[in-house]
Amino acid sequence: MTTTDPVVRVRDLHKRYGSFPAFDGVSFDIHRGETFALLGPNGAGKSTTIEILEGYRNRTSGEASVLGVDPGRGGLEWKARLGIVLQSTGESGNVTVREQLTHFAGLYPHSRDVDEVIAAVGLVDKQKTLIRKLSGGQRRRVDVALGIIGRPELLFLDEPTTGFDPEARRQFWQLVEGLKQDGTTILLTTHYLDEAARLGDRAGVITGGRLIDIGGIDEIGGAESRVPIVRWRQDGVERSVRTTELGLVVARVVAEVGEPQGLEIIRPSLEDIYLQLLADHAAGEAADLMENAP
Ligand SMILES: Nc1ncnc2c1ncn2[C@@H]1O[C@H](COP(=O)(O)OP(=O)(O)OP(=O)(O)O)[C@@H](O)[C@H]1O
Ligand SMILES: [Mg+2]
Repeated sequence: MTTTDPVVRVRDLHKRYGSFPAFDGVSFDIHRGETFALLGPNGAGKSTTIEILEGYRNRTSGEASVLGVDPGRGGLEWKARLGIVLQSTGESGNVTVREQLTHFAGLYPHSRDVDEVIAAVGLVDKQKTLIRKLSGGQRRRVDVALGIIGRPELLFLDEPTTGFDPEARRQFWQLVEGLKQDGTTILLTTHYLDEAARLGDRAGVITGGRLIDIGGIDEIGGAESRVPIVRWRQDGVERSVRTTELGLVVARVVAEVGEPQGLEIIRPSLEDIYLQLLADHAAGEAADLMENAP
């Protein structure tokens, strides 16, 4: 594998659970040092994709390569290059935070310093507490700590901040930004679109077993979906215009009505764009169904 080869390469990946197709022909690459956000509604197949790439699940068909290795055949040396934060862990936790991290640090050839990791996830005060006595969000921080302790080249983060309080989420973002600066490649799934917008370099949107869009985090959904909206109230009625000529539109409104009531300029967030993408896709599917109906 050369340094320009993608760290993750997926081609026409299919996964069936019995007769149920969890996904049907998914293809994407993740490049070295990039944070790729895999987005999609509940049941879209995000965790299944991640678990196939981690080597936890078998694929039904298609090609996958992770750090140059077929994940179905990766050995211990390959696994040591991965960091994994699963969506759910079966952690019983009859050891302290520090004991658990020290144990895992010993399993990796180039592990991070345990104190540094404990501080980075904000568990200094809880390092001597049994994991089972931690709150949900604190346990999730332990999961994140375990994911990064081995200094992974490729880090899988499956909804890492679910249950985090807002301050912990921001701390986590800083932690990930540090990992990005160190050159870590990251595959992130999250339902927090502000998190994806902040951390992601590129994103893929998966729904109904298919990747419906992929591209730069500032590009997915297309330029049209990013056009701002000017909104104001006129004679008690809410008015709005989508425009790239914000100054001109505002000036025109002011000339017409004087100081407009409730004037605001709304830039569509990634969440707005994502929801529109899903809605457009669902409408397209419905139209296809109608067209092909007998
Ligand atoms: N072990 C399994 N056996 C049968 N079906 C499964 C299994 N695991 C997942 N599925 C199904 O595959 C689909 C994809 O599940 P997956 O967990 O990958 O979704 P997800 O995108 O991660 O969703 P979420 O956002 O809720 O975590 C779902 O319809 C789920 O019910
Ligand atoms: Mg999931």
